[in-house]
Formats: sequence, C-alpha cells, structure tokens
Amino acid sequence: MNISYLIYNLFHNRFSLKMWKLELDASRKKTKLRHCHVTDSGKNNTITIGEYGLISGVRFFTSGNNNHITIGRKAYCNGSTQQPIRLNACDGTSITIGDNIILSNNVEIHTTDYHRITDDNGNVLNKPKDIVIGNRCWIGLRCIILKGTILPDDTIVGACSVTNKVYSESGTIIAGIPAKAVRTGVKVGDLGN
Ligand SMILES: CC(C)(COP(=O)(O)OP(=O)(O)OC[C@H]1O[C@@H](n2cnc3c(N)ncnc32)[C@H](O)[C@@H]1OP(=O)(O)O)[C@@H](O)C(=O)NCCC(=O)NCCS
Repeated sequence: MNISYLIYNLFHNRFSLKMWKLELDASRKKTKLRHCHVTDSGKNNTITIGEYGLISGVRFFTSGNNNHITIGRKAYCNGSTQQPIRLNACDGTSITIGDNIILSNNVEIHTTDYHRITDDNGNVLNKPKDIVIGNRCWIGLRCIILKGTILPDDTIVGACSVTNKVYSESGTIIAGIPAKAVRTGVKVGDLGN
C-alpha cells in the first residue's frame, strides 16, 4: 500500500476513512477514482480495481466476511455524488467485473436480497449469489443487477432493466424486466453517435 497515494485519494477523491480497513488495490497506473465511497463491515473484504480506469461516483458496500469486488482494466464507471453507482457484495459473495466495461449512473449491483425468504421448513429460498459481468459490457442507466446474474462478454443492458439469471450468448442487447435478448450480434462502439 502506497500511503501517499492513499492520502491523495482521501483528500482529492473523497474516499471514506473506512477505506483503511479494506485491502484496496486500485492500481496506481492512471486509474482515477472520484467521489467514491466505501462502507465496510466485516473481515477479509476486498476491492480490486484495474489500471487505466475512470471510477466515478461508486459506492462500494460490503457486509459480512469474505466479500470481494473486482473491476478490471480500463473501466468507465460514470456515476456521481447525486447519481451514484452502487456495488454491494454481502454475506461471502463476489462481484467480478471484466475489462473495458461501462457502468452508467444509478446502476445498482446487489449480491443479496438483504431479507430472507423461507419455506415452511425454514429453508432459505433466496440465498446470496455471486455476480459476474464479462469484458466490454455496457450496463445502461438505472439498471438493477441482482444476485446470480452472469453476463457474458459484450453484453449491453438497456436502460432501467433488471437482470437476475445467467445469460449465455455474448454480443447481445438484453433489456426489460426481467431482461431478455432484444438484439444479437452487437458490440459496444466508441463514445458518441
Ligand atoms: C439498449 C439500447 C442501447 C438499444 O438501442 P438500439 O440499438 O437503438 O435499440 P432499439 O431502440 O431499436 O430497441 C430494440 C428493441 O429493444 C427494446 N428496448 C430497447 N431498450 C429497451 C429498454 N431499456 N427496456 C426495454 N426494452 C428496450 C425496444 O423497444 C425494441 O423492441 P422492439 O424491437 O420490440 O420494438 C437503448 O435502448 C438503451 O437502453 N440505451 C441506454 C442509454 C444509456 O443508458 N446511456 C448511458 C450513458 S453512460
């Protein structure tokens, strides 16, 4: 851990002091972290962010032990203080996000439902599950990515969609509630029109 780098972030990027409790491994190679915030309760929770990214307005939240949030290289997380992106990994789960991804503002990713649902025998029906987002995915405005979601490489998720399962075909636009394929054979292009 480079202390001067951490102090720089504390003053320039408004990290919460709770960051000290986490093994933050934000690469020093030009990844910019702005208006990010960490809330951590538990042990062995980690956040790892790859190099050459712009991580703006992300609220990282971990609760319980052994939760891991990983964002790959060249990530573009386009949140803000007013319109944050929320990455919540709880109860021993992970959120694994690939390289070259885009998370739009107000995207929420949750590995748990926070409240249990049980059957008549007391068995928990809605256990927390890991979430995986592949390389070059673009998650549109206000999407909610729920537990167990797996998005293959080159998935585009339409604005305000909700995902909650394993999607298998890469290069697909999925949209709606719950999100379903609306177009195949696509890739995310450059910024702009
Ligand atoms: C997903 C998206 C990129 C698709 O755009 P597109 O390729 O022009 O696709 P279309 O508008 O032709 O839509 C294709 C189909 O998907 C449906 N669809 C598109 N976006 C949808 C959404 N967010 N929710 C539900 N359905 C959606 C359309 O209704 C259409 O259905 P139809 O064929 O039955 O008429 C666009 O709709 C979208 O959601 N953009 C998000 C923009 C954003 O979040 N920007 C953030 C910048 S950081």
